[in-house]
Amino acid sequence: MRLSLATAAAAFAFALGGVAMPVAGLAGKTISTTTSDNSCSRECMTTIVDQVLASMLLHNPNILPLAATYYATENSHPAALGMMTLWRTVTSAGSPSLLAIDTISGSAYFSLDVTEGSEAKKSVLWARIKVVDKQITQLELYVNRSRGDHGFSFSAVELPRNYERWMSPPADRDNATRAVLESLSAATFNPNDTISVTVADDCQFTEEGWSVIDPGPDGNGSTTPLGCSWRQHRPADADARLNLVIDEQYGIVVTGAIIPGKIYPYGEISAFIPNDMKEAQVQQDEWLAKKQASGNTSLLAPTAATGETLQVLQFYNGKLQGQQVMLYLSGPDMKSAWP
Ligand SMILES: *[C@@H]1O[C@H](CO)[C@@H](O)[C@H](O)[C@H]1NC(C)=O
Ligand SMILES: *[C@@H]1O[C@H](CO)[C@@H](O)[C@H](O)[C@H]1NC(C)=O
Ligand SMILES: *[C@@H]1O[C@H](CO)[C@@H](O)[C@H](O)[C@H]1NC(C)=O
Ligand SMILES: *[C@@H]1O[C@H](CO)[C@@H](O)[C@H](O)[C@H]1NC(C)=O
Repeated sequence: MRLSLATAAAAFAFALGGVAMPVAGLAGKTISTTTSDNSCSRECMTTIVDQVLASMLLHNPNILPLAATYYATENSHPAALGMMTLWRTVTSAGSPSLLAIDTISGSAYFSLDVTEGSEAKKSVLWARIKVVDKQITQLELYVNRSRGDHGFSFSAVELPRNYERWMSPPADRDNATRAVLESLSAATFNPNDTISVTVADDCQFTEEGWSVIDPGPDGNGSTTPLGCSWRQHRPADADARLNLVIDEQYGIVVTGAIIPGKIYPYGEISAFIPNDMKEAQVQQDEWLAKKQASGNTSLLAPTAATGETLQVLQFYNGKLQGQQVMLYLSGPDMKSAWP
C-alpha cells in the first residue's frame, strides 16, 4: 500500500483510534492498546513505524509519540526531526518492504523505497527506531539519493522485489534461537570470531536494495549477481553496535559499524573500498597506475572516507539466508553519533 497525504492522515486517525480509546487526533501522544502494560507488541511497533512514515508525508514530526528526550540522526549526523531533510522532502512512501521487530529490546529496523519532492527517481530509506513505554527514544535514519552516498551500488527500484523473500520465509523453517542470532551479530564485524557460518546456496546478497553485479573497473568483470559470503578477512569494528534489532520470528539480526576506507576511481565512476580489504585496494592502485600511465582519462583521486553501516542478516534452517549491506558515506575519520 502506498500512502498518499490523505491516507497518511487517515493512518494516524486509525493508529491512534485503536480499539478501546477514542480517536486522539493528530496531536495525540499515545498509541492505543488493549493491554494495560507499557510493552510494545509487534502490532504496536508496526503502528509506530507506519506513523514515522506517515508523519514524513505530512511534513510534521510533532504528531509522533516522541519521548521527552530522544536521540536522532539522519545520514549519520544528529538533528532534531523538524530540522531533518526527510520531513521536508518525502512525498510518497509505502509500507516497509522489510520490517524486523524486536519486542524484547523494543526496537525495529525497516527499509523501503520512497519518493522525494517531484523526483521521478526513488530513494532508498532505511531506519532503526527504539521505543520505551510506547514512546520513541531513538531514530537512526538514512536515505540514499545517489550512488555516491553509498560508494557504488543501490537500487531503489529492485528493493521491494528483493526484500519479498525476507518477509516470506518458509513456514516450516527451523528458527534460530536468540542466542544464535546474537552470536552472528558478535561475529559480523569481528574477524577474530571464528564461529562457522554456513551460507545457504540461494542466500540473497544485496547492497542498498540492489543485487550487486560488479562489472569490474573496465566493464569486463562479472555479469552475475554476487552471492552472500562470510569472509575470513571481513571489515572489522571493535566497537560495532551489536544486536540492534533481533527479530526471532523472521531470524533477522541488525548490527551497526563504522568502516574506514577510501573512495577509488572505478571505471567511469567510483567505489568505496574498506581499509580492511587491503588486497582490493592494492588491485585498485595497480589498475589506477595503469590508467594514469595511459594518460588520456580524467579520474577521481583516491580519497579517505568513512562508511557507517547497518548490516542486516537473516538466518534460519541453520544457514545464512540473506545479507544486506546498508552503507552511508561521510568524510574521513568519522565516529558514530551512536554509542
Ligand atoms: C518458526 O517460527 C515461525 C514464526 O513464529 C513459526 O510459524 C514456525 O512454525 C516456526 N518453525 C518451527 C519449526 O517451529
Ligand atoms: C578487462 O579489459 C581491460 C582493457 O581492455 C584488459 O586490459 C583487462 O585484461 C581485462 N580484464 C579481464 C579480467 O578480462
Ligand atoms: C582482534 O584481535 C586483535 C589482537 O588481539 C585486536 O587488536 C583487535 O582489536 C581484535 N578485533 C576486534 C574486531 O575485536
Ligand atoms: C584514450 O585511450 C584509449 C586507448 O588508447 C582510446 O581507446 C580512447 O579513445 C582514448 N580516449 C580519448 C578521449 O582520447
